[in-house]
Amino acid sequence: MEIQSVKGTRDFYPEDMAKRNFIADLWKQVSLRNGFVEYDGPIFEYLAMYQLKSGDEIASQLFAFEDRGGRMLAIRPEITPTLARMVNQRINTLPRPLKWFSVPRLCRAERPQKGRLREFFQWNIDIIGVDDCLADAEVIFCSVDFLMQTGLTSSDVIVRISSRKLIAAMLEYFGVEKEQLEKVYGVLDKKSKIPQETFEKMLEEVITEQAKRRKVLELMSVNSLEQLEDFAGSDKNAKEAIDELKKLFEYLNLMGITEFCRFDISIVRGLAYYTGIVFEIYDKSEQLRAICGGGRYDNLLADFGGPKISATGMGMGDCVLGIVLEEKGLFKNLSQKSGIEYFVAFADDALQNEAIKLVARLRRAGLKADFSYKGGSLGKQLKQASMQSAGRCIIVGQEFTQKGELIIKDMKTGNQETIAANEFFSRL
Ligand code: HAM
Repeated sequence: MEIQSVKGTRDFYPEDMAKRNFIADLWKQVSLRNGFVEYDGPIFEYLAMYQLKSGDEIASQLFAFEDRGGRMLAIRPEITPTLARMVNQRINTLPRPLKWFSVPRLCRAERPQKGRLREFFQWNIDIIGVDDCLADAEVIFCSVDFLMQTGLTSSDVIVRISSRKLIAAMLEYFGVEKEQLEKVYGVLDKKSKIPQETFEKMLEEVITEQAKRRKVLELMSVNSLEQLEDFAGSDKNAKEAIDELKKLFEYLNLMGITEFCRFDISIVRGLAYYTGIVFEIYDKSEQLRAICGGGRYDNLLADFGGPKISATGMGMGDCVLGIVLEEKGLFKNLSQKSGIEYFVAFADDALQNEAIKLVARLRRAGLKADFSYKGGSLGKQLKQASMQSAGRCIIVGQEFTQKGELIIKDMKTGNQETIAANEFFSRL
């Protein structure tokens, strides 16, 4: 029987691993320079945790299972609920604000497609305990900071920003019932991913009155905050949400990333727990799904049994990002060769044990060293040394048995020197 890999998963051969590490190392580096500290949680949790507040879409994509004690568990589809649980558990001792980051491996039973798999890595940054939209601006800045670091510019990517508070205020202003809001968000979030006709049909299912639906469709075609102000009239909640968005854009301006950012009313986000500013970043070809998404979730900690503490953050997967970086040729310096410092070759099979001893000594001294298991001619061993991008080759030959000397060959210049083994090690 030929064993296959599971649909929607990836194998990371060394060349793929180099790309994965390129992304993950940069995520960590950018998190740290933006003042975030790293955390992680378990790879599975109680199923109920994800059914509580993540929303129907994620709940329908869970890899859930029963453990031997009959408990229902699920592999994590996101880490935000774990973060909320962890923070609640130590709420009295943790300092605030918290700026935490993580790079979890996640699983969602989605239909695999370009940029969407069943297993992926997702960079998360979250700020807990700051009400002001300065924290949302910081999250957006950090995401853009990373993208710029990869070499992407404002001609390549766009941050589309809106506010759940604003959409809630407008929907309520149009007379949509509070209980329906979550369902309406779910439909609005789909708008840019489905044909207009399908969207309107779905909207009809959640807002039965035609007049209200027409208002919602009009709202979805608004494309600036100024236009929105006219549209919202004197509604107090809408005005508050608009003012908050204006303040956010001022912060983004101070941070120097305005050219990346645009107000976009169609951004609603799929997850149920968002309460305020929301955003998604797209590549400008618009062929791919979001590179990342996030927003404010001020009720999640309280919903999980903790105090009411505000929070905001984002998640960025490695799949769409990987496609964009590949297309733009931005994976750089991904040498797959081991780049060892010393390759120890031996002129005679009888000298292999000496080579083994030397290699072990070099490695213990902290140097990257290797040798051939098979031996064979010196020519063959030198070839292996080149394939492993060795900086230098140490040749153990007759000189070693007779006078305790080693030949050191510089693999770049081809120059050779003969040196007493003791002196060589003392120089190291
Ligand atoms: P999300 O929108 O579900 O948000 O996912 C965020 C990002 O994760 C997406 O934009 C995409 O890059 C990546 N992603 C999601 N699903 C898949 C998949 N099946 N395959 C590949 N990549 C995927 C969240 O997960 C929130 N918990 C983010 C957050 C953190 N909000 C606040 N803090």
